[in-house]
Amino acid sequence: MSTGALPGFRDFYPQEFAERAALARSWRDVARRYGFTEYDGPPLEPTELYTKKSGEEIVGQLYAFTDKGGRAVALRPEMTPTFARMVAARANTLPKPVRWFSIPQLFRYERQQRGRLREHFQLNVDIVGEPGVRADAELVCCALDVMRSLGLTSDDVVARFSDRRVLSLILLNHRVPRAALPAVYAVLDKFHRQPRDVSAEKLAAAGLTTAQTDALFADVDTVASTGGGISPATGDAAEDRAGAEVLAAIEQYQTHIGALMGAPARDWVQWDLTIVRGLAYYTGIVFEIFDRRGQLRAVCGGGRYDGLLAAAGGPDLPGLGFGMGDVVLTELLRDRGLLKPDLARLDYWVAADAVDAGSALAVASIAGQLRRAGRSVEYAFRWSSLARQLKAASTAHARRAVIVKQGAAGSGVVTVKDLDTGDEETVRLESWIAQA
Ligand code: HAM
Repeated sequence: MSTGALPGFRDFYPQEFAERAALARSWRDVARRYGFTEYDGPPLEPTELYTKKSGEEIVGQLYAFTDKGGRAVALRPEMTPTFARMVAARANTLPKPVRWFSIPQLFRYERQQRGRLREHFQLNVDIVGEPGVRADAELVCCALDVMRSLGLTSDDVVARFSDRRVLSLILLNHRVPRAALPAVYAVLDKFHRQPRDVSAEKLAAAGLTTAQTDALFADVDTVASTGGGISPATGDAAEDRAGAEVLAAIEQYQTHIGALMGAPARDWVQWDLTIVRGLAYYTGIVFEIFDRRGQLRAVCGGGRYDGLLAAAGGPDLPGLGFGMGDVVLTELLRDRGLLKPDLARLDYWVAADAVDAGSALAVASIAGQLRRAGRSVEYAFRWSSLARQLKAASTAHARRAVIVKQGAAGSGVVTVKDLDTGDEETVRLESWIAQA
């Protein structure tokens, strides 16, 4: 039998767990700073929750099986359908807007590659009940503040945006049939990860003419280089009117979101028409955060999904949110030397320099008193020399040692040694414990 975990699954030895804990702490701190409250749901859900809402890509990656009661169930591959289901169930009584966050472990049977595993932890931050663009801006600010809180800067990461409504206007303006839009979105979603001629072939397969494909590529490039100045005049009055409409939509969106996020966020955001997101439920502004060097997959992705609550059986409330995974983020932080594990230090190691029963009892009793006072404490289970006990103390990263000296077990006097500085003091246990 192998001692390794399944492919794509991780063992969290204490060092890795400490890294994961540090990340989760930053996630919680920032989400709470924005007033989001934490929730959780079940890791196993009815399979149809995903087949109905998530879209093909994720459904193809489900860990799905029939349980002993004959139900079709799946390990959650994402949190949004659970979130929508939970909010829908109590939509009438929950105060609006709903602002919740969660840190679920998610499961997708993916082809394993850098930054992609078969399980990951994902910060989910979502808002329900707010149609205005201020909520979209709030979410991006929150995601970017997570980056800042981890020590990343706008030189390290960039948030790329688009708006599915604007993109569909542009495509319809190029006379791309509405029915072809989902196929075009799927091509754009992979645009930066495949050569252009592959994208062009796929667009042709989706029914686009060469002229339509060229026009779309030109728009993508224009938006990337100018941040939005799109839709050249064609001389055709009807087309130019439609083009102007697109331009107006883009401008309004840009001014709005730019103003809301203010100057500090401006360096962090960029328009990019190829951001469409792989999931089926997005309806409006969508965004993804990437490392600037372009070496990794997206760190974070999200957007507006105004129809999802109704589709989940709830009232027709607008929703939006993002998911930020721990795998890519941890790689990025490690690359930049910013991974700081939460390794808790032990407050005290209690040691004795004698082998007598009195000393052993004293050690256990002091440890017990310190633990009841809320301190973290360890001591050796078996007697060994004081030097070895102190070595064990430093391996355990203890800050101080409490030493019971030979013959002093009954005296109530102990030596407290600072293991960082080596300073020692002799104290009366009773009065010292109160302030230890
Ligand atoms: P997603 O784009 O599928 O969105 O995932 C969000 C992030 O989770 C990705 O950018 C990536 O960092 C991480 N992630 C996803 N799959 C894996 C994987 N197999 N291995 C490692 N990391 C992964 C969603 O899941 C949406 N439900 C997010 C959302 C919340 N939208 C609205 N609210």
